[in-house]
Formats: sequence, structure tokens, C-alpha cells
Amino acid sequence: MTLLDRDVDGLRAVGGTPRVAIVLGSGLGGLIDHVTEAVDVPFSEVGSLPEPTVVGHRGRFVFGSLGDVPVVLLDGRLHAYEGHELEEIVAPVRILARLGVGALLLTNAVGAIHPRLSPGDLVLIEDQINVSFRSPLAGPVYAGEERFPDMSQPFDAALQHEFRDVAIRSGIDLARGTYAGVLGPQFETAAEVRMLALLGADVVGMSTVPEVVVARAAGVPVAVLSLVSNKATGLAHEVLSHEDVLAVGAQAGQRMIEVVTGVVARLGVVNPGERSG
Ligand code: HPA
Repeated sequence: MTLLDRDVDGLRAVGGTPRVAIVLGSGLGGLIDHVTEAVDVPFSEVGSLPEPTVVGHRGRFVFGSLGDVPVVLLDGRLHAYEGHELEEIVAPVRILARLGVGALLLTNAVGAIHPRLSPGDLVLIEDQINVSFRSPLAGPVYAGEERFPDMSQPFDAALQHEFRDVAIRSGIDLARGTYAGVLGPQFETAAEVRMLALLGADVVGMSTVPEVVVARAAGVPVAVLSLVSNKATGLAHEVLSHEDVLAVGAQAGQRMIEVVTGVVARLGVVNPGERSG
């Protein structure tokens, strides 16, 4: 039995088989307050996971219910810029896949490259560009994963439909765009932002791409909802800071929470036959 399998068995004993997994981005931890019967499992108790080091990212699984849907939240993702190997960064996603979650919803904070996006806007990600040019799949193939996953439609169409529909019915504007995943941790130069715009990116961030790749390889339906925390370098006259990213999350996170809880409620009833807990 691998360390990963042992972790999965331990987590299943604590939290059962959640229907939906949600990864919380910078400053979006408010969703945890909506989880009932919450049970925390710190990363430090999960043998195969390192501790995150970023302010605003605590490093724990939170099992419980959103409404009446069994969920697991990942509070505190790991980033390559912290010095973690890609294999470590995606270990939580591999655990979630093995737990048998039916959907993976990733949230994150991004810089806006598209000139019509502003701080506080929500963006449903429709495609991604891996600007780090590294893959979390390099190395041996993990059990249950594909060697060469197709990336022609990285994001699950049915999940995306739910996001758009919930947003419309809630009267919340939801833009669509392409996410460029950079290594960071420095913010981009103005020239790099111009390059990313030429490549077709609408937003830029320092996470998410490896998680999406592993979710695809493991066959877990995945969607990404981004909150614009700032205009990317050169598009506004301001100096960027991580504190600003957290501040926008605190202010605008409420709309994101509304959309995510709406989608989770729908996923609880979409395939009732698949539900377990
Ligand atoms: N660039 C990269 N990552 C980010 C940004 C940004 O401007 N804002 C929030 N995450």
C-alpha cells in the first residue's frame, strides 16, 4: 500500500466520500463558515502532504456539508513558488480523486489581463495556458491516471453550464476567459503581461494549472472560478501586493461563495444515484 492509499483510507474513515471537492483560493476561506458538521484534518496529519507556507493558506481538509451535499474543502493549496515539487502540489488532488469525489471546483485569485476585467470580477475559466511548461504528470504514471490525457476540453462542460446558470439566476456577472498559469512568486513585468495577452490569456495566476492537469488525468470533472484581485502589471497605475489580493478576496469573496454554494446545491441533485457519504 502506498502512502497516498493509506492517507485516502484514513481520510475516508473521517469524512466518507464527499460528492464535491472545493479548493479555496487566496482570501476565499469564508466558504468554510457555511460548512456544517465540519471536521478538520490538517495537512500535517496526512503523511504524503507538506505544509503550505503562504499567509492566507492554512493547509487542511475540511469535511462536512454545504446545504445537504457532502463536501470536502481544501483550505490552503500548495504552490510551486513555495519550493514544493509539482508532485507534492497535486498530492491533495490525487487524494481527492481517490476519495471518489464527483467534481472538483477550483477557486483562485487572478490578475486581469483582458482590459475589460476589473478587481472584484468573477471569471469562469474556459481554457488554460501552462506558462511554466512543466507537467505534474512527468514521471511514473499513477494508478488510475492516463499517461497522455486529452486537454482539448480541460474543463467539464456540464459543470460550466451549472456555473453560468447559477450566476444568471443569482444576478451575478460571470465573465469567461483563459487562465495563464505562471510560476511566480514575483508578479509579472509589464512586458510579460503584454506577452501573455498576445498568447490569448485573459487572466494570470500562480496556481491551478497543475491541479487541472492531474484532475484530467484522473478523470475527475473540474471547473475553475477566478476572482480578479487586481489588474495585471502595466494595466493600472498601482504597485501589486499580496495584501491587496487578500483584501479583494475578503470584499468580493461573498459573490464567489454564493455562486459556488449554488453550484454545489445543484450537484447534490444532478446524479442522485451517485451520491454516497
Ligand atoms: N499575477 C499573478 N498572479 C496573481 C495576480 C497577478 O497579477 N493577482 C493574483 N494572483
